[in-house]
Amino acid sequence: MLTLLKTLTLSKIIHYTHIVLTMPMSIVFLLNSKNIHKSYKISLFRKFKLGFKMFLNNIRIQSGTTYKVHLAMDLKILETPPEILGDVVECGTWKGGSAANLSLVCRIVGRRLKIYDSFEGLPEGKPSDRAAKGYKKGEYLGTLDEVKRNIAKYGAIECCEFIKGWFKDTLPNLHSPVLLAFLDVDLEDSLDTCVKYIWPTLIDRGFIFTDECVGTDYVALFYSEKFWKLNFNRTPPGLIGAGTGLCLGTYYIGPYSEIDSHPLQHAGTGAYTQNVCRDIGLTILMKSKGAQLHITADKREIKDFPKSPSATSFIRKPIDDISRRH
Ligand SMILES: C[S@@+](CC[C@H](N)C(=O)[O-])C[C@H]1O[C@@H](n2cnc3c(N)ncnc32)[C@H](O)[C@@H]1O
Repeated sequence: MLTLLKTLTLSKIIHYTHIVLTMPMSIVFLLNSKNIHKSYKISLFRKFKLGFKMFLNNIRIQSGTTYKVHLAMDLKILETPPEILGDVVECGTWKGGSAANLSLVCRIVGRRLKIYDSFEGLPEGKPSDRAAKGYKKGEYLGTLDEVKRNIAKYGAIECCEFIKGWFKDTLPNLHSPVLLAFLDVDLEDSLDTCVKYIWPTLIDRGFIFTDECVGTDYVALFYSEKFWKLNFNRTPPGLIGAGTGLCLGTYYIGPYSEIDSHPLQHAGTGAYTQNVCRDIGLTILMKSKGAQLHITADKREIKDFPKSPSATSFIRKPIDDISRRH
């Protein structure tokens, strides 16, 4: 015990004490919502049980992200009614720490978790990639076996599908609707690829969460008029938590380049954007095909329909319910 204490600096001791002491309140505050769907039967006790298990998993599995950002994603998933179709996707899993936690909520709500990774660690960074300088090829390696073992032990592996390979090769085959995607991919180039392929599959009001939220170069992607005009013919969606991460009960003033001078400061890692079409307000265009109702949220997708259906076309709801809401 004494040797352990000697190896820990005072700031680390304070940091870990803060994490442990604030855990119960973090669970209560982050899962507090009037919008959690009743059919999931999430009582205060169940919320606490889920949050505590996720907190423990964060210690059991080496992870690059905090259980608090996993809880923030859980909240959005639990608030989505079961009749809205859409998978949960993770790009960048390392040892499966975030995936194990996401799989637990997927089990509750009956959704699929698709896990994309090279399972060989990071690729070589391109010279033009501003984030690449900080990383080495092969870093954050978790093998497929290792990840499967961790999720089988601590998560819900029956909800998971594993897609091995580089994102540029695997993501073009993603055609099923996505409710929420978690992108934790470190490199700017990997982030660009993920956004390019995942955005068109996001359901109306679906979410892209990212761990890449503190570096202003990454964040700039979500505000780039050029990127969004060129790829999606729309205005940039922005990023909630840009530059600092979501407010998850930490203290962070930034910039990240000075983090070593402020060892007690931690960004509330994680930020998100949502697929709400601002160009045409919240107008939802509808098209029906047989018994299934297809909805798309922007004109481009309607034009392409049904050749390359956007995931927004996969939401199934009774027509009168939709016309009431919109
Ligand atoms: C920081 S780790 C993910 C950490 C994990 N989400 C967690 O919370 O513990 C980044 C992961 O992204 C993967 N990755 C990054 N770029 C990739 C690419 N272009 N293709 C496939 N995998 C990639 C790496 O293999 C690595 O597992």
